[in-house]
Amino acid sequence: MEIMTKLTTNEKLTEFAGCIATGKEANVYLGHGSYDFEKRKPLEYDEDFEVPVRDYAIKIFKTSVCTFKDRERYVAGEFRFRHGGYKKNPRKMIQMWAEKEVRNLKRIALTCDGLIKSPWPHFLKNNVIVMDFIGHIESRPTMPTLDGEEEKDVPHETRHKAAPRLRDAHVEDWVNAYEQTLLIIRRLYQKCKLIHADLSEYNLLYFEEIVYVIDVSQSVEHDHPMSLDFLRRDCSIIRDFFSKKLQRVVTTEQMFNFTVDFTIKEEDEEETMQDLIKKATEMTIEEYAAAEYQDEVFKEMYIPRTLHEISIEDIVRMQRDGMEIAFDKLSGLKINKEEAEKKILLRKKQIEKDAEPEVKEEAPKEESKKTKVKVVEPE
Ligand SMILES: Nc1ncnc2c1ncn2[C@@H]1O[C@H](COP(=O)(O)OP(=O)(O)OP(=O)(O)O)[C@@H](O)[C@H]1O
Ligand SMILES: [Mg+2]
Repeated sequence: MEIMTKLTTNEKLTEFAGCIATGKEANVYLGHGSYDFEKRKPLEYDEDFEVPVRDYAIKIFKTSVCTFKDRERYVAGEFRFRHGGYKKNPRKMIQMWAEKEVRNLKRIALTCDGLIKSPWPHFLKNNVIVMDFIGHIESRPTMPTLDGEEEKDVPHETRHKAAPRLRDAHVEDWVNAYEQTLLIIRRLYQKCKLIHADLSEYNLLYFEEIVYVIDVSQSVEHDHPMSLDFLRRDCSIIRDFFSKKLQRVVTTEQMFNFTVDFTIKEEDEEETMQDLIKKATEMTIEEYAAAEYQDEVFKEMYIPRTLHEISIEDIVRMQRDGMEIAFDKLSGLKINKEEAEKKILLRKKQIEKDAEPEVKEEAPKEESKKTKVKVVEPE
């Protein structure tokens, strides 16, 4: 609240106007102001000599929540979180989540040329983010005009209608909302190199027939060790939601493959997606049921990020359980199953070799060179 008081006293925000939503991890408020956070100066008068007013959603991360403690797996491998010291200082940790949200929102806006709609973050301080408000303002108190005269008979409370979450939205065209969402997931992955990692009908807003993505503090990069697991979970949650709205939806596996397939050109992605939806629509009831059944298998599949992540125990376990590995889903690796199996065999041999006790007597150099197993990395 200190930050909010500061923002209002130094006139960066002229009004702090009520609560939009209270979430698990943050409260979001509506605010207005006539300050340009980017240019760090008040907004200029417009052609009618009025000061423009901007509307903001102000997200204040709660500093007392325990839910952040489960978030460790989202920051695995991240440099700033490497010592784990943030756990001892919850304030610092929450500040980092706010920073991560701002960084991701900026990345979405800057790398996606407006193809993914999300609020732009104008200001960040500690646990407070001031970002674009998605929604309508129904009425607001009139601002003083340039000559200082304040208009009378004006409403003195700003009435707003924040965009509903997709879950609560009145949507005329669900197919269109579905298509937008599939493209959001793919573009986040392909263009922004991000996986939302908490995507659901709760973190998508619907405003003027456009789907907006929000709440990206836990989003992870491509190279996060669990990125593909998070992506599969996002796809599965989104599929479940749309399967309640539409008669036919594509499988989680198809969504996943559509997202990671870098061979689909940008100009072809909409058509490819529409083809997938069309195919699902044209299936017989039996075919559709079989695809849904197969999808349950996909959800249980082991998805290695790189072949080096597969331990010998994993290989033995998977062979024993008859589990399949989602080889061709390896992000950016697109290798065929046969090739992958060959590589796993090589790796298995190498692991076995490494485990052998070292032979003491020195072998001639030429010999040892010949017997060395070379592990070919996928391109
Ligand atoms: N920019 C925005 N414009 C309008 N409404 C917003 C905006 N950002 C967030 N909201 C509203 O605030 C709610 C909570 O925001 P957000 O999801 O970012 O926080 P959260 O604490 O993670 O919430 P939850 O735990 O419910 O997911 C959203 O569901 C949405 O209704
Ligand atoms: Mg949320």
